[in-house]
Amino acid sequence: MKIYRTANYEEMSRKAANIIAAQVTLKPDCVLGLATGSTPIGTYKHLIEKYEAGELDFSETVSVNLDEYKGLPKENDQSYDYFMHHNLFNHINMKASYLPDGTKEDGEAECRRYEALIQEQGGVDLQLLGLGHNGHIGFNEPSEIFEKETHCVDLQESTIEANKRFFASADEVPRQAYTMGIKTIMQAKKILLVVSGEDKAETVKKAFFGPVTPKVPASILQLHPDVILVADEAALSAL
Ligand code: F6R
Repeated sequence: MKIYRTANYEEMSRKAANIIAAQVTLKPDCVLGLATGSTPIGTYKHLIEKYEAGELDFSETVSVNLDEYKGLPKENDQSYDYFMHHNLFNHINMKASYLPDGTKEDGEAECRRYEALIQEQGGVDLQLLGLGHNGHIGFNEPSEIFEKETHCVDLQESTIEANKRFFASADEVPRQAYTMGIKTIMQAKKILLVVSGEDKAETVKKAFFGPVTPKVPASILQLHPDVILVADEAALSAL
């Protein structure tokens, strides 16, 4: 694993955007795996700036997102589809962008469809990830086993708590989500994890310097051959 230590969130975002820009420049028809959450927003801003400056062209690039709430239509401003359009897709010329469809009632069929779609694109070249406080990646929550492929999850109370800031109340946070599985994530050729803030410092320590265990889902990344962690000093302060 390569670790880039940055002074702050802004520098973390610039570094992560540069890594994604290099991927798109070297392989314009690549498949980017993307994430939502607050951490990648700065990275997306820098990508938009590069696109607007004429430095980056996504016209051959395809993206697949990690996850989506079950039960939220695309138009809902808390859906991940809405988030991605608002923070990235509306501002650049991505050839095609895919997320799981949160409105599909038949969860198993939707998960199978999405997993097949990722494989049809040829798999993910570069997967961007954020890190949950409980060590989750995507919506792969701490568990007794590593879930393999795209599946439907019951969100943990801590995740509902963390995400309720985006909803009128905790009651409105969906209780389930579709997420790429650990195997789907681990099949990406390259993984870029962005982490910021002291509140994630203990999780970073557990995930990258503790045992590999499904109780800390991100710890599996220790076994991936090409992981880049871009984190600010605060996030690395427990090491
Ligand atoms: C988002 C996702 C989540 C977040 C994680 C960190 O698509 O899959 O795993 O990356 O919850 O979220 P933030 O960045 O808001 O701290």
